[in-house]
Amino acid sequence: MAIENFTTYNPVKLHFGKGIVSGLGKSTAKYGKKVLLIYGKGSVKKYGYYNQVVEQLKSAGLEIVEYPGIKPNPVIEDVRMATDLGRRENIDVIVALGGGSVIDSAKIIAIAMASGYDGWDIMKYRVKPENAIPLLCVLTLAATGTEMNAGAVVQNHDTGEKIGFVNDLNFPKESFLDPAFTASVPKNYTVYGIVDLIAHALEFYFGEGEPPVIDAITFEIIKDAMHYGPGLLDNLENIDLRANIMLDATLALNGLTRYGKKNGDWGVHAIGHELSLLYDMPHGASLSIVYIAWLTLQKDRIPARIQNLGNHLFGVDTVNETIAALKTFFQSINAPVNLTDEGIGEDQKEIIINQLNKNEASGMHHQLNDEDRLEIVNTMFYQ
Ligand code: NZQ
Ligand code: ZN
Repeated sequence: MAIENFTTYNPVKLHFGKGIVSGLGKSTAKYGKKVLLIYGKGSVKKYGYYNQVVEQLKSAGLEIVEYPGIKPNPVIEDVRMATDLGRRENIDVIVALGGGSVIDSAKIIAIAMASGYDGWDIMKYRVKPENAIPLLCVLTLAATGTEMNAGAVVQNHDTGEKIGFVNDLNFPKESFLDPAFTASVPKNYTVYGIVDLIAHALEFYFGEGEPPVIDAITFEIIKDAMHYGPGLLDNLENIDLRANIMLDATLALNGLTRYGKKNGDWGVHAIGHELSLLYDMPHGASLSIVYIAWLTLQKDRIPARIQNLGNHLFGVDTVNETIAALKTFFQSINAPVNLTDEGIGEDQKEIIINQLNKNEASGMHHQLNDEDRLEIVNTMFYQ
């Protein structure tokens, strides 16, 4: 059946547009008096978003405790330290100001604080938490869709894993998306964001179920990003273009593209996460490399699905043309398509293969075995 049975749920109140953060103080005050403000390595202070947020929270009479310093590809140590701080300070509500790394960390911190469980036990599904501290997000980077979804991705270097945790407790109560807060995202991370949102749309497209209306929506999201993305890269401070990409990114992974599907695939993400873990590679950079290799592996297995994609996105007719056109698009926006583009030489091949096999990196719909992983790794060096 083209449309699979599915259940969908999304309780996030989304505020979108220029100046929208002016409602943050009032919204946050609904959930308590003492706020844990979580942010990253410094961009929010440099570009003034921090001041705007603090002003909002103070004007609503809220007391603020801060946890700064979340790194890109966030780590469990920060989750644990922020959780301890939050518990010590009797925090009522969390405000996450940043991109996916900050927001994902905040989601696990919110659950760990409320449940008393360790963050990594939560990530590994070893415990069954039942509540979370209310979380509000102010997004500064359009890419992950985390602002409106139930996922969180965290790394643990002790166990050698970068994994996702999906649970309704992860849903932020409210998210504030002002495209002006993304105007300072540098060119490289803007590129990675465009790649990431396209990859999310594709992960669902290659999942189980082929609902025609959702395929059409998926193509439109990708086409919108391919249409407005290049212009944005030439004009990084254009807020209208930022808004287009911001909306695309949210729509790609807020559940909409999963309607009518049993699942997504997520094999490309699984492999990308291992590359990020090994080399601290930015998430989006890993995806443009892996997607081309994954499609090459799948081209004789699911030709009709790949062809259909190429036909709608690029007006081409064959599998090879589809893969070539996607690669050309990635290259046109300076996204890496080979591991060597990221400075990773063939001497790393064994290490990558071992890492992928150790964690059995695979998709949900199109499962991968050791041979598939070997083929993907071989392809990723020179494609
Ligand atoms: O740390 P600061 O100084 O804030 O700098 C950040 C960071 O260096 C910077 N940045 C963010 N907003 C900025 C800005 N610089 C200037 N101006 C701004 N407005 O950008 C860098 C990257 O930030 P990060 O949060 O790591 O990027 P992104 O939003 O792409 O998040 C990536 C993380 O999200 C996970 C990824 O695996 C990765 O760990 N994902 C989360 C998902 C989810 N929860 O649903 C799904 C995704 O597939 C993904 O796996
Ligand atoms: Zn992603």
